[in-house]
Amino acid sequence: MGATDGRMHQAHPQLPAVAGSAWRIVQIWGMPIYQYFAEHPEARAVFDRAMASAAWHRLLPVVHAYDFSPFRTVVDVGGGNGALVVLILQAHPRARGVVFDFPAAAERARANLQAAGLADRGTAVGGDAREGVPKGGDAYLLSNIMNDLDDAAAIAVLKNCRAAMGTEAKLLVIDRVMPAGGVVSGAAMDDFRAWDTAMNDLIQLLVTGGGLVRTEAEFQGLLEAAGFRLTAPFTGRSSSADALPLGILRAGARRDP
Ligand SMILES: C[S@@+](CC[C@H](N)C(=O)[O-])C[C@H]1O[C@@H](n2cnc3c(N)ncnc32)[C@H](O)[C@@H]1O
Repeated sequence: MGATDGRMHQAHPQLPAVAGSAWRIVQIWGMPIYQYFAEHPEARAVFDRAMASAAWHRLLPVVHAYDFSPFRTVVDVGGGNGALVVLILQAHPRARGVVFDFPAAAERARANLQAAGLADRGTAVGGDAREGVPKGGDAYLLSNIMNDLDDAAAIAVLKNCRAAMGTEAKLLVIDRVMPAGGVVSGAAMDDFRAWDTAMNDLIQLLVTGGGLVRTEAEFQGLLEAAGFRLTAPFTGRSSSADALPLGILRAGARRDP
């Protein structure tokens, strides 16, 4: 990427127009990606395998970088095949975990929790987070789901988390974070993390209807719209993986004066 001397980013302003044209996957499939997966379980299975293959690379550094020990029950909203809950429960033997995702994914997560010997502490619940999420967690995790969602869906999911959470519970958004200004270019493209961020922004543009990689300010706007206060922006690196592509933003219920 560095070999392009920063000139590749000159194409970026064209990308929304190109991706909005007929070859965007939503137009090709005739429906949003997760609806397509619901109707085509074989495609969902391939997607889940892809998520699982990258899970250690993406999620293990998160479990190393963040102290999950204060939490008794984590609810992983959009938790897919359960990889993050498995890692957290393995690292914290007293913790409990709930994976929440569409029914087919939740079924796979249940099987994975069982295979990992965690069925006594880990459960999986199927449903649509735009309609509601399970109550009872003291930490709600949104790992790599916000960037699949347009702003309206993201706010709906956040509001449902807020409604399910007690006042002391925490929300952790674990996601890629776009640098301020939304431009990843030039020298920054020599950095794997920056490259990964730019590529994922493009992927969201192509495969979702309105998903994107957001800046910290954009996350803050969504959180505030849903009744949260950003308490710990953390877009840093993990000591174990300098190239950790994910940021961790912590939020709590906003208490209006
Ligand atoms: C990109 S995957 C990430 C999976 C996992 N959290 C991880 O970090 O590997 C996004 C997940 O969010 C789930 N998801 C998206 N929209 C959802 C919704 N409205 N309700 C429940 N789950 C949803 C998808 O089914 C998928 O498993």
